[in-house]
Amino acid sequence: MSNPASPPAVGVVDDRPPLTFPPGFLWGAATAAYQIEGAAAKGGRTPSIWDTFSHTPGRVVEGHTGDVACDHYHRLGSDVALMAELGLRSYRFSVSWPRVQPGGTGPANAEGLDFYRRLVDELLAHGIEPWLTLYHWDLPQPLEDVGGWPARDTAARFADYATLVADALGDRVRYWTTLNEPWCSAFLGYGSGVHAPGRSDGADAVRAGHHLMLGHGLAVQALRAARPTAEVGVTVNLYPVTPASDAPADVDAARRIDGLANRFFLDPLLRGSYPADLMADLAKVTDFGHVRDGDLATISTPLDVVGVNYYSRHVVAAPVPGAQPEPYWRAPSCWPGSEDVRFVTRGVPVTDMNWEIDAPGLVETLRRVHEEYTDLPLYVTENGSAFVDEVVDGRVDDVDRLAYFDAHLRAAHEAIEAGVPLRGYFAWSLMDNFEWAWGYTKRFGMIHVDYDTQVRIPKSSARWYAEVIRRNGLAAQ
Ligand code: FCB
Repeated sequence: MSNPASPPAVGVVDDRPPLTFPPGFLWGAATAAYQIEGAAAKGGRTPSIWDTFSHTPGRVVEGHTGDVACDHYHRLGSDVALMAELGLRSYRFSVSWPRVQPGGTGPANAEGLDFYRRLVDELLAHGIEPWLTLYHWDLPQPLEDVGGWPARDTAARFADYATLVADALGDRVRYWTTLNEPWCSAFLGYGSGVHAPGRSDGADAVRAGHHLMLGHGLAVQALRAARPTAEVGVTVNLYPVTPASDAPADVDAARRIDGLANRFFLDPLLRGSYPADLMADLAKVTDFGHVRDGDLATISTPLDVVGVNYYSRHVVAAPVPGAQPEPYWRAPSCWPGSEDVRFVTRGVPVTDMNWEIDAPGLVETLRRVHEEYTDLPLYVTENGSAFVDEVVDGRVDDVDRLAYFDAHLRAAHEAIEAGVPLRGYFAWSLMDNFEWAWGYTKRFGMIHVDYDTQVRIPKSSARWYAEVIRRNGLAAQ
């Protein structure tokens, strides 16, 4: 059993044992380009779908954009120094496609690549392993203008871009992730439209999902060709999906959502096929005519590592005629063909995103990937929580976030004891940042960012995490 979500209250004796992680466990923190870099029009960068989307009124809360964000582009040196101060062993960042290949086609932009060269060199100089994600949602706008991810050609463009980055950084970056969370790109971007580019068409979402995975497979091949020694993987966001009751209709609702949320990606990537039941569920949405011979072999090109992002669990129930969908999944839905499945809240503690806190779900998720899909080394490439923070006397005592990390690290350890080859953990996020459709209203960082002054304050969770890294585990407290 996992430990409860919060450490014992002050004054209560904590009898939990200290937990030590395997030697060499890769402790890190993660960010993404559009969420932190700012400098949207600097150094030859051109707009991505997120620039267009965030500048479209009504798309992002309070009209926030990533134009300035955390201004990391200009603060790379001091940000890496902060990472070193926390003792991070690794830093997961993403490369902005339109910064290094403006417009998404043609030659590389030397100035854009230079920024990432400087970042990587600075990390290496501090003994921090760079972990590079090629695509964290910022498709160059011109590629969207000619069809975006629902168009097959975008997959080939992505592989070309992968080659440009590998040629420039392959000599100093060992770990490569192709895509971050293709479910979000496909189903939030083209299904519900709550993410860029904000389109809403179930068939397009399914096509986008396929072409993202095709682009991934082609990019894996391109990376291997450019850098045979690279460790290459993909990051998927996974949720345990639990039926609200044992009633067969609820169990079937869980099967459907599990198909769309998890197996839509895991099966093609790690088994080379789409699940038959998922294809049947989607029959009224698409005939899968976009899948060509050989695609699934490309998509399942062998990997070296698999990245798992974990935040919460879905609990679902059978449709009730006439019932309204949950607001977050507002129509049009990000669950094509299963729009009417109900998402149930259990009344357990939630984060500021309203996501239920469910650390045992991380154990379940990691075990499932290992036991049902692959023996490859796994990494938690994101895990974290948003809470409302308060700066008091220059300090941020984020006890809720700290408790979230504590509970999930205990879950990660439990997974390792159950035989999962978990090799590392990246906290989301290194610092507060642009939380997509929520703008700057949700804070996930271990480091507080004052967006007016760009002053950074490591929160209590950051100090605590530094100690976890130093001990390679959790203290008894
Ligand atoms: C994930 C994203 C990441 C961040 C966290 C909270 O879905 O990969 O960029 O927004 O959620």
